[in-house]
Amino acid sequence: MPLAAQQAPALAPTPAAAATSAADASEARARALAIVAEMTLDEKLLLVHGLFPPKTKADPHGELIQSAGHVPPIPRLGIPIVRESDASLGVANQIEQRKGDTATALPSGLATAATFDPEIARAGGAMIGAEARAKRFNVLLAGGVNLTRDPWNGRNFEYLGEDPLLAGRMAGAAIAGVQSNRIVSTVKHFALNAQETGRMVLDARIDEAALRESDLLAFEIAIETGRPGSVMCAYNKVNGDWACENPHLLTDVLRKDWGYEGWVMSDWGGVHSTVKAANAGLDQQSGQELDHAMYFGAPLAQAVASGKVPMARLDDMVARILTGLIANGVLDALMPEAAQPIDYDAHADVAQRDAEAGIVLLRNEGGVLPLAATAKRIVLIGGHADVGVLSGGGSSQVRSVGGAPVEIPLTEGAAASFARVTWHASSPLKAIRAMAPEAEVTYVDGTDPVAAAKAAAGADVAIVFATQWTTEAEDADSLSLPHDQDALIAAVAKANRDTVVVLETGGPVLMPWLDKVPAVIEAWYPGQRGGEAIANILFGAVNPSGHLPITFPAAASQAPRPMPVGRDVLAGAAEAAANADAGSAVSPVSFKVDYIEGSDVGYRWYEKTRRTPAFPFGYGLSYSDFAYRNLKVTGGATLTVSVDVTNTGAKAGADVPQLYVGHGDTPMRLAGFRRVTLGPGETQRVVFVAEPRVVADYDVALPGWRIAGGAYRVAVSHDAADRSLSAIATLTPRIMRP
Ligand code: BGC
Repeated sequence: MPLAAQQAPALAPTPAAAATSAADASEARARALAIVAEMTLDEKLLLVHGLFPPKTKADPHGELIQSAGHVPPIPRLGIPIVRESDASLGVANQIEQRKGDTATALPSGLATAATFDPEIARAGGAMIGAEARAKRFNVLLAGGVNLTRDPWNGRNFEYLGEDPLLAGRMAGAAIAGVQSNRIVSTVKHFALNAQETGRMVLDARIDEAALRESDLLAFEIAIETGRPGSVMCAYNKVNGDWACENPHLLTDVLRKDWGYEGWVMSDWGGVHSTVKAANAGLDQQSGQELDHAMYFGAPLAQAVASGKVPMARLDDMVARILTGLIANGVLDALMPEAAQPIDYDAHADVAQRDAEAGIVLLRNEGGVLPLAATAKRIVLIGGHADVGVLSGGGSSQVRSVGGAPVEIPLTEGAAASFARVTWHASSPLKAIRAMAPEAEVTYVDGTDPVAAAKAAAGADVAIVFATQWTTEAEDADSLSLPHDQDALIAAVAKANRDTVVVLETGGPVLMPWLDKVPAVIEAWYPGQRGGEAIANILFGAVNPSGHLPITFPAAASQAPRPMPVGRDVLAGAAEAAANADAGSAVSPVSFKVDYIEGSDVGYRWYEKTRRTPAFPFGYGLSYSDFAYRNLKVTGGATLTVSVDVTNTGAKAGADVPQLYVGHGDTPMRLAGFRRVTLGPGETQRVVFVAEPRVVADYDVALPGWRIAGGAYRVAVSHDAADRSLSAIATLTPRIMRP
């Protein structure tokens, strides 16, 4: 059954409990300080470093659960065990450390971002947070919000695309959803962990204004919207200092400018010092067994004794940890004594609705889609579409309900020890058969293009499932589909003009066969019920409404960096440079990655350099059409824009009008978006209030945000390349604090 048309299934936690207010946070801080005043030095030291269960021998209470992290309790002060599990896409169980423990897999972050609907992100967060609590975790290492700067980044699938406003709002909503279960969510990886190659050694270089306007803006919006209990700092260096000992990021920006009161935990294996890290603003060393030393164990005790780390700083570290926990109810709504039952059917509905709203219809010539219920012979080709849908690899890997029908171990590479190429048990073949019970629906595996073309020639419709597996710790080798799938698609399209390509990819791929194939959908990694979601889109039971949260280049050379930086430098040390647990004797050397595009990430880069991508950011077709009319712009201190959005087609559907703003010769930026659902012929007036920090530039001399004032270009668009409805607004000068 299509889920897009239904109400979101009710979940236990209420939205009202979603985000802690600033008042809650200061009350929590007061309570935390009162606890700190009661603590012994040993108790304080106990809280500032966490175990990595797979590598620890210490389990004094038999309370370890195999997962990412564990911090022991202090019962006399009412401080419970802190149990941490990955990640943003569900309760992870990467290489099945917990035998048989399955969970609901959300679609990839890019799929969720493609919905442009914070409510869908919130519902997904609430669902996975409920599972985390039921499985006795009180910290979910979710909230991945690194911006997509490079289309080949192996972790793009976990994140929310290339635009700071979209990514920030969607991450904030997801975090609030997780925390509505009275557990903590992180936001991560702070900041600029934008490529996986050499992530543990590279130095990301960017100027301050550009950083504030891009990656940091995504974090800022995510933090103010979602109020995560904790921020996870990144592996890499930022402008010369490791992110986890970077006083500018952790103290000046996060604490002083943004007033953040929760705690900073390190990424696993991301700590490099004791005194520098503690004084820069790192509050907790995570996964201590993965670092070169237990920096926040005995060495921190010594540093406090010698005064190199003031006692007041240790108190603040502990107070921040407790503040994040208290503000989210962790000290009051204790974890259950035993694992609780989970309504996996209801949770799969949440994942399916997300996938259905996030699948993007990229091309549909000659009305091939939606597929006619009258098609008699349909052949599915490749991608293991007989049994399941692909997922992305790494710490976010969910062992999903129903198990893994296909699971391929890796023999080499930085991800080999903790990732396997894994399919979720949601069969497109089965779902398509259910949609077309009269048709003969067959499957060929696509390993032989000749056999595939033959099968396609004998069918009314051929559907090729093309896959690109990507993973944490490795970047994609190229933007081309691997394993000769381009040749397979070309052969099938030659044999049957009614060929549809379904992409299950981590991010953008090149499509050399595009003009030969009438219909293409980007299904991303579509999650727990991806097969059903794809079938519903193909047959029109759900009208496609996803929009690209990331530009699809026409050639690798169009992107600022055509391939991962540093591969030449790392050579044989690539594994040690990306995997904290690689245990290599080789010490990889650091290298610089210069983010020359500055804040002009993604579509802004394409506008600035006048490049035409294959598909622009924000793009997505529907089985209906939408028109924008009667644009009205009001300037002054705030930019307000309104427009009539009309469904001019014959089918109900959802659309995403997007507000872009620019001034001078800067590329236009997304300053607002809204997902609207309209019946055929229906019109709705949509009002946008432009996000002022997007309208502004960051001025390091102030320091703060400055709207220069004067004439601003305004467009309400179907995507980032559409300027068909535009106007000029006059804004008054304005400055805002950082
Ligand atoms: C990843 C984090 C993850 C952590 C714990 C790291 O390798 O970068 O995203 O939360 O491991 O598993």
